[in-house]
Amino acid sequence: MPDNKKQSRTSNKAMTFFVCFLAALAGLLFGLDIGVIAGALPFIAKDFNVTSHQQEWIVSSMMFGAAIGAVGSGWMSSRLGRKKSLMIGAVLFVIGSLWSALSTNPEMLISARVLLGLAVGVASYTAPLYLSEIAPEKIRGSMISLYQLMITIGILGAYLSDTALSYSGEWRWMLGVITIPAALLLIGVCFLPNSPRWLAAKGDFRTAQRVLDRLRDTSEQAKRELDEIRESLKIKQSGWSLFKDNSHFRRAVYLGVLLQVMQQFTGMNVIMYYAPKIFEIAGFTNTTEQMWGTVIVGLINVLATFIAIGLVDRWGRKPTLILGFLVMALGMGTLGTMLHIGIHSVGAQYFAVAMLLMFIIGFAMSAGPLIWVLCSEIQPLKGRDFGITISTATNWIANMIVGATFLTLLNSLGNADTFWLYAGLNVFFIILTLALIPETKNVSLEHIERNLLSGKKLRDIGQR
Ligand code: BGC
Repeated sequence: MPDNKKQSRTSNKAMTFFVCFLAALAGLLFGLDIGVIAGALPFIAKDFNVTSHQQEWIVSSMMFGAAIGAVGSGWMSSRLGRKKSLMIGAVLFVIGSLWSALSTNPEMLISARVLLGLAVGVASYTAPLYLSEIAPEKIRGSMISLYQLMITIGILGAYLSDTALSYSGEWRWMLGVITIPAALLLIGVCFLPNSPRWLAAKGDFRTAQRVLDRLRDTSEQAKRELDEIRESLKIKQSGWSLFKDNSHFRRAVYLGVLLQVMQQFTGMNVIMYYAPKIFEIAGFTNTTEQMWGTVIVGLINVLATFIAIGLVDRWGRKPTLILGFLVMALGMGTLGTMLHIGIHSVGAQYFAVAMLLMFIIGFAMSAGPLIWVLCSEIQPLKGRDFGITISTATNWIANMIVGATFLTLLNSLGNADTFWLYAGLNVFFIILTLALIPETKNVSLEHIERNLLSGKKLRDIGQR
């Protein structure tokens, strides 16, 4: 191969990676905002002297905002494009972080959290969508998983900074430092190219071609991809009207909803939001132990995401998901059994923690990243904005339900049964995965689309 050709190939690869990395930075903000509240809440509660009901509002106002943000960004990203949507998300992150740090009463804080929620909603919608449209098919899975990796790094970062600042109780700093990565995201996003698929959908094929030329190894590859995009744009209807009239598309939308419900009902966020409480149930009564235990949970969540990044484009989505659900079921199930028998020794306490971490590994290596991957892959181009809007909003609504029912479940069912319930759900998800989920490894988005719209069974839409 001539040297200049080789050079341009390498620089295109680096460019693709840079673009994906920047978009994935939106995930970091998502994670920071999910993680930060657990450690900040006790200090906020003391400072503002708020009731537990108000505390629930401070936590869940963000998820409420996120559901709205996800719905709004469907419209926004199809009108203004993925890049501008990400920019608007970044601006909201900056304003929301500053506002929450400077809040002088609970109402102000709750409204700042709604604003941050809007930002998280926009980010959780736009970033995986943009990534799926930019990344070459061979590494599409790992590039979208990179986004999940950033979420987990964000959560860990928030746990760490919360723990470090907890000694002085500086909750304003806990919330305020997030302004820095938010500003970095804002600057970075300005350098991103527009999504070639969005450009083409708007009729600007020349710019779409130029972007693809910069991102793909050869101009033939770029041209082939643009031809495929052109082909999938031949469908006249889009969004809601496509949903109403096309039963094949409806199936993809329902599958997206199911996938996100599955992700949330694994029970992951029970641990993300209530980790210190779970450590307490397992017999660790000291707050410092609980805080550091939570940091370890965050760290394992980051590390195990690398397993997914390694497996997703090799093993594929389906086997990785099945293994993950199995590991989660075992972790939750054993934890439930231990709580049923009673945790009476230090050895048993540590074994319980090991089971908790096993659950985290199961999630991070599978449902965490792979659900985002699949949701952005299964929708046809003309219905992508609509389909992903619905699935992302489902993620946040299910997230809110899981978060809001955990303490009630513990009180009404008891500790053991609550964990068994989640273990049972994870077993059920293995069956659902086998029956309904497609394998989308190594096939182009346009190929998946052709299979879907020609009426192939959902689990077969990734077949070549
Ligand atoms: C989920 C979040 C979860 C996070 C944990 C994401 O994929 O959507 O709800 O808190 O993973 O790492």
